[in-house]
Amino acid sequence: MPLADFDLALFGGSGDLAMRKLLPALYALCRENRLPATGKVICIGRHPWNTEQFIAEIEKEIRPAQPHQWHKFYTRISYISFDATDPAGYAPLIEALRTEASITRIFYLATPPNMFSRICQNLHQRNLITKYARVVLEKPLGRDLQSARQINAEVGRLFDESQIFRIDHYLGKEAVQNLLALRFGNVMFEPLWRREWMSDVQITIAEEIGVGNRIEYYDKSGALRDMLQNHLLQLLCIVAMEPPVSVSADAVRDEKLKVLRSLKRFNQDRLVQNIVRGQYRAGYVSGNAVPGYRNEPDADTNSHTETYVAIKAEIDSWRWSGVPFYLRTGKRMADQLAEIVVRFKSLPHSIFAQPSSSFLANSLVIRLQPDEGLHLNLMAKTPGEGIRLRPVDLELDFRESFKMPRMDAYERLLMDVLRGQLTLFMRSDELEAAWEWVEPILNFWEQEGSPPAPYAAGSWGPAAASALIGRDGLQWREEALPEV
Ligand SMILES: NC(=O)c1ccc[n+]([C@@H]2O[C@H](COP(=O)([O-])OP(=O)(O)OC[C@H]3O[C@@H](n4cnc5c(N)ncnc54)[C@H](OP(=O)(O)O)[C@@H]3O)[C@@H](O)[C@H]2O)c1
Repeated sequence: MPLADFDLALFGGSGDLAMRKLLPALYALCRENRLPATGKVICIGRHPWNTEQFIAEIEKEIRPAQPHQWHKFYTRISYISFDATDPAGYAPLIEALRTEASITRIFYLATPPNMFSRICQNLHQRNLITKYARVVLEKPLGRDLQSARQINAEVGRLFDESQIFRIDHYLGKEAVQNLLALRFGNVMFEPLWRREWMSDVQITIAEEIGVGNRIEYYDKSGALRDMLQNHLLQLLCIVAMEPPVSVSADAVRDEKLKVLRSLKRFNQDRLVQNIVRGQYRAGYVSGNAVPGYRNEPDADTNSHTETYVAIKAEIDSWRWSGVPFYLRTGKRMADQLAEIVVRFKSLPHSIFAQPSSSFLANSLVIRLQPDEGLHLNLMAKTPGEGIRLRPVDLELDFRESFKMPRMDAYERLLMDVLRGQLTLFMRSDELEAAWEWVEPILNFWEQEGSPPAPYAAGSWGPAAASALIGRDGLQWREEALPEV
């Protein structure tokens, strides 16, 4: 179906996210002729550039190889400088937006979240919200349950839920959607996808980078708010949800919501036992010496902000009772990766010379980063005499298998916004259910007041994280050395 023509007003157009991700994604879509020929992108910031200067800035970021492709893109772009909190500043935007009903109007808010309500109110006051307009909200959506509810209520007063696109770019990754295809497009996994056959699930988002120049934002946020409340919980939902009746937005979101509502709540004991938070100290990442979090430029030297968090989550349901879901994320880790590891139970009995305890349990690894693909770990016979088993990997590399160009998560999500397809975006009740689950952790940390456990930059996090999973007789994937 051809896409409708659009006007995309990108608030935060001069910011890091727009420059590094959104505008390059729009450029890639334009280069591949996916955008309607006359779709316009109106970027908004306070930086006093004119359109020409702004285009020069994005050209430095995108570094287009083909002049005619670049021309096709930049002629759609304009830049307006005004303070988006001031309704009087909106006059040039009103002038830039086309008024034909056939044109889809999109407001993309890539600004600090405390501006979301204000911008929406100003759009309303200036009569810019049409019946078919859409608003895209970047994470983080609030910093606790109350602020998330407030954003939902205030934006929801002006836009219908069907017009609101809450971005979680992890859901736009090819591998996440492939997990849906794997689970619900094949018959073989469904019987195994449950407590009888699964041992545990580990979901890791590890970053080698530190806090960079985002200390002002990050120090008020931390790993729990920045990564776990949104990305890790969304991935958990995709792994754990029941088969939806279809892939329509509400069918998928209803099932994800049920998972969030089934997460076991934390009592005092579980808050102490099942959660580890850490903060990186100086160390070496990829052979380079890096400073500790508290010694980063402009950092608070007494900061208690966590740069690492690991949680054992449990789901109270027939399918998942007794299967732990270990979630962890951290900065300045030993590797840069995002993956979901589904581990199956060990053999009940071994007929081979090796004892069953020396067999590596089968696992399915869904890699989201850096490469996107699947690895199914099976035991196979080592060639030669006798039967000695060894783990081997069945690998599916999406790029190799389909010989198709890779589509970035933001490209896919922007296309979905243009199409009005909400499946990969969070609904308001999902957002609130996720905050409801993490809020007791935030409150506990605040009351308790103790600092996060230190870990060396370039490691896999604090020792307490190994102890957390070790109490269940398990290990993180990188710690589990195959016994052959
Ligand atoms: N950067 C990332 O990788 C990333 C990833 C995921 C989500 N996010 C989220 O995306 C949002 C933007 O992040 P960012 O890293 O791009 O932040 P940023 O670099 O600080 O950019 C903020 C943007 O908002 C604009 N802005 C701020 N106050 C404004 C005002 N009163 N009127 C008009 N424009 C105003 C800034 O314009 P001027 O600078 O011209 O004043 C700038 O374009 C945040 O909510 C962030 O959490 C960022």
